Amino acid sequence: MKVFGICASPRNDTTYYALSEALSHLENHDFETEIFTCRGKDLKPCMHCDYCLENKKCIIQDDMAEVYENLLNSDGIILATPVQSGSVSANMSIIMDRTRALEAVDYNILRGKIGMSIAVGGDRTGGQDFAHLSNITYFMIHGIIPVSGGPFGSNLGASFWSRDSLDEMKRDTYGMESLKRTLKEFENFLNKYI
Ligand SMILES: Cc1cc2nc3c(=O)[nH]c(=O)nc-3n(C[C@H](O)[C@H](O)[C@H](O)COP(=O)(O)O)c2cc1C
Repeated sequence: MKVFGICASPRNDTTYYALSEALSHLENHDFETEIFTCRGKDLKPCMHCDYCLENKKCIIQDDMAEVYENLLNSDGIILATPVQSGSVSANMSIIMDRTRALEAVDYNILRGKIGMSIAVGGDRTGGQDFAHLSNITYFMIHGIIPVSGGPFGSNLGASFWSRDSLDEMKRDTYGMESLKRTLKEFENFLNKYI
């Protein structure tokens, strides 16, 4: 089974670290993984031109092509975002909007895949839950089954407090615990339903 992880930070730092930890854990459990980092990528916002509805593809030629391909070819999807202005990053928002072009091809194109969310905030309560809810809403819109690690630590997904530093992030054992819990459930769902 294949898991596709999107790091929606404009750089490869704390969110990339959390996602990489998640993907190497999954590789150790025999999952194939693929990572897409938004760092240095050309990702333009949706223009609502409706070209995709007519032509079954997005008119914009940029690095979203790699995201489309991997969304389609994966069984599990991990959305990892830094918390920005209390919710997901601008990159994540672009990827979410641009997914509309896939549904233009087939309404059920992503239905039944399994999704989980990682949110990394500089503040302890900086909006990680809002970011999770945005990711989970994306999953629901596209028929992707969202999983969390359950109550007592990872109610909506894996939540990290980076204090704006990779060293501090690595010391966030509570965050890492929430990642492990979420991954456990993610693997359970993949093994049970895919
Ligand atoms: C434009 C911007 C807005 C941010 N807004 C928030 C915020 O609302 N809440 C929060 O906890 N952290 C906020 N942060 C801090 C980042 O979430 C934090 O530094 C995170 O670890 C960055 O992830 P990265 O290292 O993967 O880029 C913001 C950072 C930037 C650059």
